Amino acid sequence: VDLDIAVENMPSPLALPKSRRPTGWFQVAWSDEISIGSVKAVRAFGQDYVLWRGESGTMYAMDAHCRHLGANIGVGGSVWGDEVACPFHGWRWNGEGENTLIPHSSQTCKPGVTMRTHEVEEWYGIVMMWHDVLGRPPLWPMAPIEEMEDESRHPFGPTMRGSWTIRAHPQLPIENGPDLFHVNFVHKGEAAEIVRYDFDEWAIHEEFAVTYGKGKPSTWLTPNGAVRMVLKSEIHGIGHTTIVWPEAFLGGVSVTNITPVDDEWSVYSFAMTGLRSADEKLLRRAVDHQLETVQQDFPIWENMAYQARPNFAVEEGKNYAGLRRWVWRFYPEEQQPTEDGPT
Ligand code: FES
Ligand SMILES: [Fe+2]
Repeated sequence: VDLDIAVENMPSPLALPKSRRPTGWFQVAWSDEISIGSVKAVRAFGQDYVLWRGESGTMYAMDAHCRHLGANIGVGGSVWGDEVACPFHGWRWNGEGENTLIPHSSQTCKPGVTMRTHEVEEWYGIVMMWHDVLGRPPLWPMAPIEEMEDESRHPFGPTMRGSWTIRAHPQLPIENGPDLFHVNFVHKGEAAEIVRYDFDEWAIHEEFAVTYGKGKPSTWLTPNGAVRMVLKSEIHGIGHTTIVWPEAFLGGVSVTNITPVDDEWSVYSFAMTGLRSADEKLLRRAVDHQLETVQQDFPIWENMAYQARPNFAVEEGKNYAGLRRWVWRFYPEEQQPTEDGPT
């Protein structure tokens, strides 16, 4: 065995993790997709889940396959009070995953038979589910956005958002944040200037300065000439990122969520809103612009090949490569690289 070659082929801590089952909060639905009394089947992390909204309005998430004979409760299941019934033989399950009724049995129910349930949170009209292969309870809460706490912004309504199923690694969207040098090529725009990029245990706090309408006397967005503004972004693990624009720019708030479907596909979701007091046409145009811009990365992401030992330029060392070193904590199935490992 040639050990030099073995080390050469060893993935570096700067490689993309191979696991597509990261830990964190992930979008599994838009709230308005699941009205009271309805169920939804969700495929994520190579598994099937069922979501349902009980008569009380509460949203529940559970593994989808019924512990009677394995039918998928998300496909034709029905809601009874706050419980869900399997479409095959009507066995009922409550929000704690307990079997509460076997319609065809004198036994009534099997108290010892339970289904695995999952923590869900409805965050400004988006259903987020906690996922962890180790089964740990949430390691961090879903953070509120101050700007969304009053009624000053529109909700993330159906015309303000999109979801796309793409054949891409779920980590690629958050890599856009520190990647200044793709902007020019992929988005035909000016690279932002990163003024803050701080790593926390489970989050990255980013601030970046953008000059809209740079070098032009006026644009639809900047009728009075170029405007430089600082945007604040919060990256919460792999699956959930928010951006807040200053009040001067329509009071924009956007959210980018990605959820791995399996080892090949991911669902990318984006939503943007702004101040109710903002010019309606301008906000509409800004949202449409963002909805278009986010899709420009897809052909790149969908056609990439895994690099065991990627090569970063020196300018990418601190933030981009720093992100690659930081993310391993979200992939507990992966061997965690150490600082003295290959780089
Ligand atoms: S498989 Fe669910 S009730 Fe029979
Ligand atoms: Fe991009």
